[in-house]
Amino acid sequence: MHQDVAEILISEEEIRAKVKELGQQISRDYAGQDLLLVGILRGAMLFMSDLMREIDIPVNIDFMVVSSYGSGTTTSGEVRVLKDLDRGIEGRNVLLIEDIVDTGLTLNYLTKYLANRHPKSLKVCTLLNKPSRRRVEVKVDYNGFIIPDKFVVGYGLDYNEYYRNLPYIGVLKPEIYQE
Ligand code: XMP
Ligand code: MG
Repeated sequence: MHQDVAEILISEEEIRAKVKELGQQISRDYAGQDLLLVGILRGAMLFMSDLMREIDIPVNIDFMVVSSYGSGTTTSGEVRVLKDLDRGIEGRNVLLIEDIVDTGLTLNYLTKYLANRHPKSLKVCTLLNKPSRRRVEVKVDYNGFIIPDKFVVGYGLDYNEYYRNLPYIGVLKPEIYQE
């Protein structure tokens, strides 16, 4: 285990099993339909790359890069789109792939932003969900794990851009971000 990690909250094996389950569910739900996966970078990159391999229907992929103002472990709720989609989504089934839904502010912004472009459907798949932190109500269609209000890193999630490469979801030692 990494020295800055206090505990492993979700192991590699648990992630693998959940990702497989989600992939099968998505494959069933969208069978025979068009599907565009939209990964929200950078946090969702590992989740999306594993998830798409568990989806056995034809898919397209695209990415957005967003940043919520604020650094470290807090978010201000103001979202900035740093990279938009490469192609239009009008009339398409869009599935947003997120690493974590925390306050819900990012997702709330993104779903409104994309709904403006009139997709056929717009759903959300998140690996992690912290419902206790919600500041705005958002609909999540596919949920990996409900987690407690602890700051987590790994499997794509960062603290100051580090720890994304950890293969598990870990709770960061508080002294690391209280310094
Ligand atoms: P919300 O839902 O608050 O989420 O708009 C915005 C972004 O906050 C980040 N976030 C975390 N990142 N560990 C992280 O590494 C966490 O525990 C955590 N909670 C929120 C994440 O980038 C999310 O997209
Ligand atoms: Mg982040």
